Amino acid sequence: MSDIDDQIKRDFAVTRKIIYMNNGAIAPTPLSTIKAVTDFMLKCAESGPDAPQTSEYVTSLLDELRTRVAHLINCDRDEVVLVQSTTEGLNIAANGVDWKHGDAIVVRGGRHEHYANYLPWVSLSHRKGVQLRELAIDESGYFDLGDLEKLIKGARLITMSHALYNTGAIMPLEEVGRIAQQNNALFCVDAAQSAGTIPIDVKKMGCDFMAFPGFKWLCGPTGIGAFYCSKKASELLSPQTIGSESATLSEHNVISYLGMPARFQAGFRNYPGAAGLEASLRYVLRIGLESVRKKNMKAAGILRDVIGKIPDVRLYGPDDENKRTSIVTFTATTDSSILVKKLEQNNIIFASRDIGGGKKAVRAAPHFFNSEEEAETAASYVKNFLR
Ligand SMILES: Cc1ncc(COP(=O)(O)O)c(C=O)c1O
Repeated sequence: MSDIDDQIKRDFAVTRKIIYMNNGAIAPTPLSTIKAVTDFMLKCAESGPDAPQTSEYVTSLLDELRTRVAHLINCDRDEVVLVQSTTEGLNIAANGVDWKHGDAIVVRGGRHEHYANYLPWVSLSHRKGVQLRELAIDESGYFDLGDLEKLIKGARLITMSHALYNTGAIMPLEEVGRIAQQNNALFCVDAAQSAGTIPIDVKKMGCDFMAFPGFKWLCGPTGIGAFYCSKKASELLSPQTIGSESATLSEHNVISYLGMPARFQAGFRNYPGAAGLEASLRYVLRIGLESVRKKNMKAAGILRDVIGKIPDVRLYGPDDENKRTSIVTFTATTDSSILVKKLEQNNIIFASRDIGGGKKAVRAAPHFFNSEEEAETAASYVKNFLR
């Protein structure tokens, strides 16, 4: 094991106890993040949480966090809104546009999207009479760009995940962004399964809105994430919540929203979470996304090689590893929840997820702190159970 791998293992306490491969749900935090959260709480306890010195510190912390997020996805710091989760960010986008009855929205795969990026649009269709157009997909979740060109005609927005939570497939977002721009449609991206595991460039993608959590592949604490809203698109979006942190009221009762990003951040934020996420981002970016991806794909490759050879097992997602993340999904003759339970009894944490058509599959989501040995052990347990 290299010095770096050894250090990573020490930083992730989970590796001493179990083989945790449910990072597509929530990833553990490194020790430096735990320390950053604790230090922040101590600072609040000692200096007063809203004393001048602490609030100056909070302001610089949030600036620092937004700067790091901006660096991660290639945008301006002011285009980063701090939210609780992907769901919150996507809802800001879905509910903020001035929809008219009969407007159309294109959604990749309908129910094949994570519900966080489906239900807000379905709800809009119920409340505002917006038409949902479902982009047909294949088994991996891909679609035909020609179909998209036809479906997007006259639509106001297209939405899809960057990487899929169920098959791990990476969507061709640069092409989609180009088609969206050519058709004057807004482009919304759910990056819950990509931020922290593959590179993101919102400018290259031509994306207007993007949301992701800090607590999956970025290894931050729960309850904090980011919503990217391009400056241009922010002019088309009305805040749906309002409070002292996001707007002012004139003597004549005129409400004036603050600029970006404050206009979408009504109320105080999750400051301990921000301290944690800032430390996690520093950690992940110090390892480097290229290295993270290499390690992730190594573990995923081991899992796919072994599990894919088990009789009656079916692997999902593209064979080409450049087209998928480290998510490895499979079905077998044994029910996925039974297999997940059996693995859990042996200290191996996978998950069971929808794979489309009402079917569930077993999902392993290894991250950079999972060693090759862990992947080999987990795969051999799966093999033994299914034998
Ligand atoms: C693709 C995708 N989108 C959204 C979500 C929901 O994320 P959050 O809890 O940040 O709202 C998930 C969670 O697993 C996901 O995989």
